[in-house]
Formats: sequence, structure tokens, C-alpha cells
Amino acid sequence: MVKNLVATYGHGYVLHGISLEVREGEITALLGANGAGKTSTLRAISGMLSRSGEITLAGQSLVSMAPEEVARCGVAHVPDGRGTFVRQSVEENLRLGAALRRDKAGILQDIDRVYGYFPVLEKRRKQQAGTLSGGEQQMLAVGRALMLRPRLMLLDEPSFGLAPLVVSELFGILRKLNAQEKLSILLVEQNASLALATASTAYLLETGRVVLFGPCEEVRQNETVRRSYLGH
Ligand SMILES: Nc1ncnc2c1ncn2[C@@H]1O[C@H](COP(=O)(O)OP(=O)(O)O)[C@@H](O)[C@H]1O
Ligand SMILES: [Mg+2]
Repeated sequence: MVKNLVATYGHGYVLHGISLEVREGEITALLGANGAGKTSTLRAISGMLSRSGEITLAGQSLVSMAPEEVARCGVAHVPDGRGTFVRQSVEENLRLGAALRRDKAGILQDIDRVYGYFPVLEKRRKQQAGTLSGGEQQMLAVGRALMLRPRLMLLDEPSFGLAPLVVSELFGILRKLNAQEKLSILLVEQNASLALATASTAYLLETGRVVLFGPCEEVRQNETVRRSYLGH
């Protein structure tokens, strides 16, 4: 739950009082053109950007927390560009995703759980992350975030640069994770039709403000959204 969130990179605000709600167990989409403030919104939530306003997760306030504390509260951020450790192996990347945890047995179980969702990662477990395909790296980034056992996953443009077939595979797994693990997801996507087909609620950002939100079926019918973001 985010209310009146403002954020700045140092001079001037990039977010001008954003309010949005990611309902528990749901996928919420954050749409908007390049530069609208989508990445900044995720960074502000996860504490990587100077912010004020209200940010709460299950009643707990996150707004004055450092990134590590936000992560400890169960918010996993999959950044744009994926942020995998390219020199480390797939499995080392997954272990790094659990760096805040101490339960060894649980970590091993969760590595298997990730391999269950992403069998290709198990096949490549010893391989350097930098040698994976783009789609595999994105899967690894999501897998690494899962190692935190998050309540909420922040996903920044997961489809970026991937072939259509890989995108549909990845989004199929995201839907499965959402359904089976009751994982809440805040999904940032420039591909509006994909996001609207995946999420249940959508918010549209323009220059650091929410200009439209609602159930995806409604947002999809909106004249501006159709013309500017769906191209029909
Ligand atoms: N590191 C940064 N320092 C200063 N301004 C930034 C930085 N990153 C992004 N911005 C600015 O913040 C605004 C929102 O950017 P961003 O959140 O990346 O948009 P989006 O993810 O929707 O493309 C843009 O005007 C951008 O130029
Ligand atoms: Mg961005």
C-alpha cells in the first residue's frame, strides 16, 4: 500500500504523490511511457531512492527503512536489467538471494522449489550466469528474488529484450507463482497489452503521477490507453 509517495534523485521530485495498492495475492500492473516514473516507484518502495509519504506492507511502515530492511520485511525487487551476478554460477546466484536468511535446510528446499518452477535453471546450475540467454537470466533474477521468500515481488520490465516465445513462457511461470504461492506482484511493463492480460488491477503513470487506475478490463477499454499504449 502506497499513499502520497514522493521521491527525488536529489534535485526536484520524480514522483509527485503516488497512491496505489497491491492487493495481497494479486498481480498489479504499473504502466507508463519511458520516463514516467515506473522504475523510480519500485526504487522508492524498496528504499533505493529518497522518499516520503506512506509505504506499508501488511500494516508495517517501510518508508524510513534502508533497502536491506525492506527486503527483510519480504519485498523482493527484480530490477530492470535483471542484476544477476554474471561471474557467479546459477546456484551461487540463488544462494546470494538467500543471503539474509540463516535457515540452511529451508534455503536448500527453496533452491529446489525454484528449480521446480524453472527447470532450465537446474540444467544450468553450475553455469556462469553471464553465459545464460536473456530469458534464462530473467528467470534467474526471478528465482533469486524467490529465495527471499517474499510476500511482495517488484518486477521491473521482465519482458524487456526477450523473444515473444520466451516472454510467454516467463509470464506463464509468473502467473503460476502468483496462483500457487499466493505471491503478490507489482509488475512494471512497457508492454501494456501483456501487463493488462497478466494483472488484475492496473495503474497508469505519467510524469510521476497516477493518471488512471482500475480493474484491467476497464483500463483496457479506456480511450487514452487504447490509443497511446495499446495502439488501436
Ligand atoms: N539516477 C537518476 N538520477 C536522476 N534522475 C533520474 C535517474 N533515474 C531516472 N531519473 C529521472 O526520473 C524520471 C523517471 O524515470 P524512471 O523512473 O526511470 O521512468 P520509467 O521507469 O517509467 O521509464 C525520468 O525523468 C528520469 O530522467
Ligand atoms: Mg524503467
